This record gives sequence, structure tokens and C-alpha cells, in this order.
Amino acid sequence: MTSHPAKLTLPGHSRLRQSEFLYGVATASFQIEGAADRRQPSIWDTFCATEGKIRDGSDGQVACDHVQRWQEDVELIQYLGVDAYRLSVSWGRLMNSDGSLNEEGAEFYLSLLDELNRLGIKVFVTLYHWDLPQALEDEGGWLNRETAYRFRDYADLASRLFGDRVYAYATLNEPFCSAYLGYEVGIHAPGLAKPAFGRQAAHHLLLAHGLAMAVLKRNCPQALCGIVLNFTPCYPHSDSDADRAAARYADEYFNQWFIKPLFDGRYPEIIASLDEADRPVMEPGDAEILTHPMDYIGINFYTREVYEADPHHPFRTVTLPDVERTDMGWEVYPQALTDLLVSLNRTYPLPPIYITENGIAVADQLQPNGVQDVDRIRYYQAHLEAVDAAIEQGVDVRGYFAWSLMDNFEWAEGYLKRFGLVYVDYGSQQRTIKASGHAYRDFIRSRSERS
Ligand code: NOJ
Repeated sequence: MTSHPAKLTLPGHSRLRQSEFLYGVATASFQIEGAADRRQPSIWDTFCATEGKIRDGSDGQVACDHVQRWQEDVELIQYLGVDAYRLSVSWGRLMNSDGSLNEEGAEFYLSLLDELNRLGIKVFVTLYHWDLPQALEDEGGWLNRETAYRFRDYADLASRLFGDRVYAYATLNEPFCSAYLGYEVGIHAPGLAKPAFGRQAAHHLLLAHGLAMAVLKRNCPQALCGIVLNFTPCYPHSDSDADRAAARYADEYFNQWFIKPLFDGRYPEIIASLDEADRPVMEPGDAEILTHPMDYIGINFYTREVYEADPHHPFRTVTLPDVERTDMGWEVYPQALTDLLVSLNRTYPLPPIYITENGIAVADQLQPNGVQDVDRIRYYQAHLEAVDAAIEQGVDVRGYFAWSLMDNFEWAEGYLKRFGLVYVDYGSQQRTIKASGHAYRDFIRSRSERS
């Protein structure tokens, strides 16, 4: 018998308990789908095949075998009782390299979307969650401005095909990760490492977003269209002016860089401090494309970072001792989520917000009594309270997605890190709902009760 004593609770008056507030779970194509032989190879296939890039030497060939098992996975989603499911579409599964539709891939996504619609589960589709077709990388990938226009074509194909099956579209997921981790420091695909590359890739990604926004709004005026950005709020180590300036610089470099252009059409002030060669090349008219109005913004939050002054660089990361950390080594600091939402709300004319990802890696163990992931339940409790606190301070948050529905391929960490509400045994592909999954389900159901 699986027991699940730990609970998620919130007071009855909280907006998070109202039925219009959407609860969901999220996944991404490369991390769960498998069936790699039935799509174009992506930059992540190439990266995984490169010695030493993935910690356990694994890849996405099978992953959670979701393409075969999607019906079972939709049953899990239904069992959890969520209002919405956030998934991503693999560019190279939907589109062939000549730009034509991949019929088999189209059928897979249409069946999945139809089933979710039939069950009354709202579908949030992310068009780009990092799996760029390798064929486009061979032509320069996100360093090539043309890739932004190819993305627009793909967004056009996808949104015409899906029609009114999609409740909300996100153009990109976490362009910071694609640009910075992929092209500036090289720990993600395609593994390039140069500041100029990171900044240029970022610009082309944001351009791709803006171009796609126009197409999505034309094809699907009824759908909510926006972007998903990640934020790791930057705190100074001390109150000194130097540490505060260091944290501010880091914040502009890692966080504001990806949101400010979407509202102001220009990059943060620190652009002036970059070497001329590291500044992105922009063309006249780009600012208008970048600032296409959005119906919502998705925010992914996991942790914060602490910075101090460094005589040789604009900032230095501080690793605090004695703080609670997740299995990723990330500090658990829920207050940063409240601070982030309040500060973004003050800085930009934001559309409604969805928390499109939040979650924790835990070294889960499957025991005879299931997976007793009490740390995950505590993490969700604290972060739901943090969202609640932001709403109390006037931030318009409309929904919350747990990352993730199930354990999956955690990029450079391979299968070593588990983020799911559902445990996956990769040998047998057996799924087991963890205590956190039961707690999330009970919490969602409890919304209709008075407390
Ligand atoms: C953000 C990414 O969108 C997702 O793909 C990843 O698995 C989680 N963070 C956890 O690192």
C-alpha cells in the first residue's frame, strides 16, 4: 500500500484556491519522447553523442518512451486532476528538413492534443524547448539570423495544424539557457563557448520569438501567446555598494537581458560595458519585432544566486555554506520567487503571468511503500505560498505548473536527477506516482472545499 501522509495546504481565501487559477504539470519533448529514429536529429542528439558532455553518458533515444506510451501518460495527467498540461513540440518531429510536414509526427501530436482536449485539460504548447534540428545548426544555428525566419515558418506550420486545440502557445522556453549555456559557456548543446556567440544567439532567439508571435496571433487569435523565461534572482552577499553593484550587473547579464528587450526594445545598460565585438548585431526594425505584445508571460523559477564584488570581473558567485540545497545543488530560497514577481511587476508592463515551471530534484528511492518525497512536498508548499504572497502584493499570476509530470532526461545531468511527481524506472519504463503527486492531486481537488 502506498501511503502519502504529507499534504499541501493553503488558506481558503487564497487566489490559489479559486477554480480559475490553473494548475498544471510540464514536460518537454527531448526530455521524455524517445523515438529518435522517427524525427530529424537535433543538436541534443549530437551533443549527447559527444564524449564527456552528459554526466551519465546517456541520451534521448528512448527517454521516457513517451511517443509509445503517451496514452498511459495522459492517464497519469488525468489522475493528477490538473487543469492544464504544458508540453513542447519537437521541431524536427513535426517538420522535415525541407520544411514539409512530417505526417507521422503530426499524427502523434494531433492525437495527443485531441485526447487532452477530450478530457478538458488545457494545452500549453512550447514550440522550442532547445531541440534545434541539427541541419539548422549545420548552417550556423542561432548564430545565423536566418534561423529566426525558419523558426517563424515552423511556428506557422504548427499553429495552422493545431488550430484551436491549443489554449496557450509559448514561442521559446528559457532563451537564456539556449543562448548562454549553449553558445556562451558550452555546457548545453551545441556546446559553443564565446561571449559574442551567447549574446548574438540571444538576439536571434528573441527575434525568432517576435517573428513567431505575429504568425501565432494571425493563425490562432483565440490562443494565449507569449514566451517562457527563466529567472535566477541575484542577491548581494553584503549590503556594501560594491556587492550590490555586482549583483545588479549579474541580474542584468543573466535575467534582464532576456526580458527588457521584449518590452523596451533594447538591452540593459550594461551592454555599454561589453567589448564592442561581444555586443549583438541588431538590424533596423528589430526592436519593433522583439516588442510584439504578448498575452501572457511564463516564468520558470528554481533558485537564486548570491554575488559579491570581484576586482577583475563585474561579479563573482558566492556559494553560501549551511543552506538547504536540492539534489542539483541549488539553494532552496522561496522568498526569491515572491521578490522576483513583485520586482518584475514593478519594472515592466507585464501581461498576466503563469508560473510555467517550478520544482526540485530529489534523490528519490522507490520503496515498497512508494516514493516518500517529503522534501518535494515541502518545496512545493513553500513556493505556492511564495506565489500567494506575490498575488497579495498585486501581481497577476493566473496559474502554476509543477516541473515535472515525471522524471526525465535532465540535459547535461542525464537521468541522474529526478524532478517528477511520477517516478520512472528507466529499465522497465514503469511509472509510480510519488507522494508529491498524490499531495498535488489532493491539493487540486481540495480547492472546491471550504477551509
Ligand atoms: C528548466 C528547463 O526548462 C527544463 O527543461 C529543466 O529540466 C528544468 N529547468 C530543471 O532543470
